Amino acid sequence: MTSEPVLSIRDITKHFGAVKALTGVNFTLARGEIHALCGENGAGKSTLMNILAGVLQPDEGEILLDGKPRKIASPSVAQSLGIGLVHQEIALCPDASVAENIFMAKTSRRRSLLMNYRKLERDAQKVMDRLAPIDVRGKVGDLTISSQQLVEIAKALTLDCRVLIFDEPTAALTEAETRILFDIIRELKAQGISIIYISHRMAEIFNLCDRVTVLRDGRYVSTEDVANVTPDDVVRRMVGREITQLYPSKQTHAEHSGETILSVRNLGDKDRFANVSFDLARGEILGIGGLIGSGRTEIAEGICGLRATIEGKVFLHDNPQTIRTYADAVKSGIVYLSEDRKGSGVFLDLSIAQNISVLNLKAVTGHLGLIDAKAEGQLARDFARKLGVRMSHVDMPVSSLSGGNQQKVAIAKQLAVQPKVILMDEPTRGIDVGAKSEIHQLLRELARSGIGIVVISSELPELLGLCDRVLVIREGAVAGELDSAEMSEEAIIRLASGLKHTNTHASEHAA
Ligand SMILES: Nc1ncnc2c1ncn2[C@@H]1O[C@H](COP(=O)(O)OP(=O)(O)OP(=O)(O)O)[C@@H](O)[C@H]1O
Ligand SMILES: [Mg+2]
Repeated sequence: MTSEPVLSIRDITKHFGAVKALTGVNFTLARGEIHALCGENGAGKSTLMNILAGVLQPDEGEILLDGKPRKIASPSVAQSLGIGLVHQEIALCPDASVAENIFMAKTSRRRSLLMNYRKLERDAQKVMDRLAPIDVRGKVGDLTISSQQLVEIAKALTLDCRVLIFDEPTAALTEAETRILFDIIRELKAQGISIIYISHRMAEIFNLCDRVTVLRDGRYVSTEDVANVTPDDVVRRMVGREITQLYPSKQTHAEHSGETILSVRNLGDKDRFANVSFDLARGEILGIGGLIGSGRTEIAEGICGLRATIEGKVFLHDNPQTIRTYADAVKSGIVYLSEDRKGSGVFLDLSIAQNISVLNLKAVTGHLGLIDAKAEGQLARDFARKLGVRMSHVDMPVSSLSGGNQQKVAIAKQLAVQPKVILMDEPTRGIDVGAKSEIHQLLRELARSGIGIVVISSELPELLGLCDRVLVIREGAVAGELDSAEMSEEAIIRLASGLKHTNTHASEHAA
């Protein structure tokens, strides 16, 4: 790579009030390379990419394209310069069709009143088909998050980019979808397009990328050829220390109370799952594995009143519960952390403090029935400290936090209710390695304090490392249960896919 870089970032600094998100950051992107950008939650990755995409303006520093200094004053300037960004947070219009969303960026530029609708749909379908069989006439709001993520990617593929940025594109994708995306990214590279790729998954970075740049606390740390470093090296540069213990120790025999806290019996809804039964003991962390789309989320939603069930029962300490709404579930002591933090996890416009107390207003309401802001702030500060949320103040809106820190607020919000049972759907998605092990540690402590925890995860190492037992779901039914002695990646995959024997490795999802 001797030719002039496509893109050079020089000494970029960016403040948000008192928060110094970026300090003197340098970065160069070579023509036709795939360049990974790594760093802990809040390291400044998305901020830097938003500056490149014209969404944010830097306080200092300059950006050179083909050696020429450029001011990227707005997203449309970025687009005309050939810089495209696949956002970390899905930024689609839920009420518009897939086709309209895919071409929104382009059409808004032309503001053409006489759009040829048929042609728009045909073109959109062509782009979409490269990724997945999604009908572009459907409404985006009706799609799963995984499909929405693919639409977000399709949208970026329609722009004529020289530089294409992917900010954690695979967080919501299946392994098969990830493989298709990687093929497309490699194709783009072969066409001479330069790619910046952000991910917390080391396996992806080492599989896909040519070079890797690490940021820490808003500062540039290093850039290296991927061939010359190991995942451990990258993690060490990211966190500035060695992570010795990735997972907390599991439940000991003595800790196993045997006391059942939650029982689910023959639960079924209209179409997605049927006859689901399992028990959860006090102090236990039960993993739920299975392919994306197998019905795991729907089962969790069925248990906590977010989805109508037509058969079966949920018991807490042997008492049958009537759970018709999520408020019923919370009252019973069951909470659910949804996989889609933007949809139902957190309110982006509310403050960190308001989010954390929203399910537990009782605790922060004074005797006149007014919310006691001081109590609210204290509650939030306690939980934010426990979870290590990186923030300047609890009164800041959640939208001001980095993606991973928003996830921690979503977890804090559920914990603030002091639940008996907590169901978590992909709790560490988008969370960096360091924070992830902190969250795992916290879950184990919560279990030790007597809570029952259910963790739905598509990451096999997480199921194996964290959970005491794993239930595998296939096509809306329990395909099998594995105790700690039987648990292995292969055993889970075999049950999840219905195969008798397999040698498959879930390499792309390894942390
Ligand atoms: N609009 C904003 N207002 C205030 N602070 C902000 C804003 N956007 C980002 N920040 C802060 O800037 C810092 C960098 O955030 P950024 O989103 O760039 O992190 P990141 O590296 O993308 O993290 P993640 O892996 O969690 O996505 C964080 O401390 C964040 O709280
Ligand atoms: Mg980010």
